[in-house]
Amino acid sequence: MNNSGQEQGKFDLKAYLEEKRLLVDPRLAAILDCSRVDTRLCRAMTHSLMGSGKRLRPVLCMAAAEAVGRISDAVVQAACALEMIHTYSLIHDDLPAMDNDALRRGRPTCHVEFDETTAILAGDALLTLAFQTLADCAEDTDADPAAVLRAIKIISDAAGYRGMIEGQMQDMEAEGKNLSVEPLKKMHALKTGALIRASAACGAVLAGADQKQRSALLEYADNIGLAFQVTDDILNVNGDPEKMGKASGTDLKRGKSTYPSLMGTEQAFNYAENLVNNALQAVRIFDNKAQPLAELAGYILKRER
Ligand code: IPE
Ligand code: IPE
Ligand code: MG
Ligand code: MG
Repeated sequence: MNNSGQEQGKFDLKAYLEEKRLLVDPRLAAILDCSRVDTRLCRAMTHSLMGSGKRLRPVLCMAAAEAVGRISDAVVQAACALEMIHTYSLIHDDLPAMDNDALRRGRPTCHVEFDETTAILAGDALLTLAFQTLADCAEDTDADPAAVLRAIKIISDAAGYRGMIEGQMQDMEAEGKNLSVEPLKKMHALKTGALIRASAACGAVLAGADQKQRSALLEYADNIGLAFQVTDDILNVNGDPEKMGKASGTDLKRGKSTYPSLMGTEQAFNYAENLVNNALQAVRIFDNKAQPLAELAGYILKRER
């Protein structure tokens, strides 16, 4: 796999992210092709999926695969499935019954652009399509079907009632309450961390990682997953909505427990920094092949969106 980011000597994260986006976005557009299925539902799914998302989970899946082997067709396909699940979670997260947000990825949220019914169904359909996309790997790519099955199990577990959905449940139940740091960490490890961990795990499994490599990648992902949510909370306090493509100040309004609300913005940032340092330690075993993962971890601290 050509990696323009690494060829230039000094690692160019922007080029790396762009290169990975170009692997994922055309594949997503081909899978979800509204010219073939020209329905309101398809348009709503496309509206949310093709906005200005950072594609962090796909990139992570591909970077993990690259650290141990190569970005095969199945890895790209799994990356697309991860992005579909993430997008569905955002559509539902933005609904009036949950966070009630009007802006996402620089666009009106799905229920604002369409309506609530359509947004619920578009989320449902993206979740289902993700698993179809994963299952297709076994037929349409040269991937080992056993590895594809492992990936399906990893993602279904992470996205479901013992992972992301339970995290979302805890987030909603905690509104208006003051959580302490430990329950907050647990909630975030589920609502955000689980899918980020699954992204790295899928890349690892599909690229044939051994146990040591897989453990290192999971350790890395657990740390950046939490760091990512800490910086999401910080950006909700002091971020620029224009750059983020979504509103700020909303956590406070809704009485969400967040890292900045608990420990102050500065200490929350220090905490994120510690987590990123742990992540960097974890991937040392990959030597220079860890560079994209290391740069990604650093980006989580510096990000403005
Ligand atoms: C936002 O995720 C929700 C969280 C889990 C913090 P991202 O910040 O990855 O959103 P997109 O994909 O770039 O829109
Ligand atoms: C969204 O979390 C997490 C999931 C959708 C699983 P948040 O509600 O904290 O994220 P934003 O701030 O709306 O992007
Ligand atoms: Mg939420
Ligand atoms: Mg939200």
